[in-house]
Amino acid sequence: MNPIYLDYGATTPLDPAVAAAMEPWGVAGYGNPHSAHLWGYQAKAAVEIARDAVAALLHAPPETIAFTSGATESVNWALKGLLTHPSNTRRRIVTLATEHSCVLETAHYLESLGAQLTIVPVRANGIVDLGDLERALGEDVALVSAMLVNNEIGVIQPIAAIARAAHAVGAVMHCDAAQAFGKVPIDVDALGIDLLSLTAHKVHGPKGVGALYRRPFTMLTPLLHGGGQEDGRSGTLPTALIVGLGAAARIAGERMAGDREHALALRDRLLASLTVPVEVNGDLEARWPGNLNLGFPGIAAPLLSLLPGLALSSGSACAAVTGRASHVLTALGLSEPAAKASLRLGFGRFTTPAEIDAAAAQINAVVTRLSQDAA
Ligand SMILES: Cc1ncc(COP(=O)(O)O)c(C=O)c1O
Repeated sequence: MNPIYLDYGATTPLDPAVAAAMEPWGVAGYGNPHSAHLWGYQAKAAVEIARDAVAALLHAPPETIAFTSGATESVNWALKGLLTHPSNTRRRIVTLATEHSCVLETAHYLESLGAQLTIVPVRANGIVDLGDLERALGEDVALVSAMLVNNEIGVIQPIAAIARAAHAVGAVMHCDAAQAFGKVPIDVDALGIDLLSLTAHKVHGPKGVGALYRRPFTMLTPLLHGGGQEDGRSGTLPTALIVGLGAAARIAGERMAGDREHALALRDRLLASLTVPVEVNGDLEARWPGNLNLGFPGIAAPLLSLLPGLALSSGSACAAVTGRASHVLTALGLSEPAAKASLRLGFGRFTTPAEIDAAAAQINAVVTRLSQDAA
């Protein structure tokens, strides 16, 4: 039997309706959307419908959306594109300690090329102190980058306030919305976002496709040089993947309130079913409810290997590869062993209450056994 899938933070199951929307474009509809003939026009029309759906979910005009291979590429384009553009004379990036590695590593790379980097800590609940952020800002800051929903602890940063502080010093506001797109309402104008990175596979779409929102007149050097297809992002567009992103966006828009309620009910059920002492890492209120990051007081053993019936992670999927303690949890003040003993549970649209009950029973059994062994 397959383990119960509770790793929605790593990726989400493809919605069957998304797969059905993609199907005609994966095999029969092979025209290049940039070709000037019927095959091309049909593919291009499908791409533009998807662009409209993505834009609608951000309350942005369609022409501000450029398709990419995912949030990693979008983030790389936003940060490198802005810092290396000839019109930009500022050299400093300000970001948060709990950002995804695609932001932190890109920022470190730019630092190696001469940029300056300020990493602002977060409070024990995972949310940045706006005073700390404001003190880090100055007229030399080109870009502030902050995540909307955190991929490890689900915590929601106060993006509108962060953007106001960024704009007060003339900096551009970038938001990594990989985990937020389609789950929480996003209005780029209301939030003051100038650049926004998103991906399809965290919202029941396919892997390998995402988008970058660019506020008009935000000048970016291209990341991929070539035919210039996506207003400076070169490469033939993958019609089927883009149609999948568009369908995922449309469905997410329609189901947003229901998906949230479902996730919240599952979360409350899981918390109520845990009979062992547990601590939730990260703020429980300002949080996407499809994430629970749990620590177990007194347990320092990596729990993951003792729960073969559950498909989940202790941190991000990337941290699972390197075996390092999560930089997000240590930024909250957890010790390395406590971070490694934490569990990140991600659930949502296709998770059933029975799966949650089974997961709680397995966690209760393992933690009880470990506590008895330690006593
Ligand atoms: C917050 C966040 N940013 C960026 C990414 C990277 O997205 P992608 O897999 O589309 O490159 C992920 C997930 O992998 C993520 O959770």
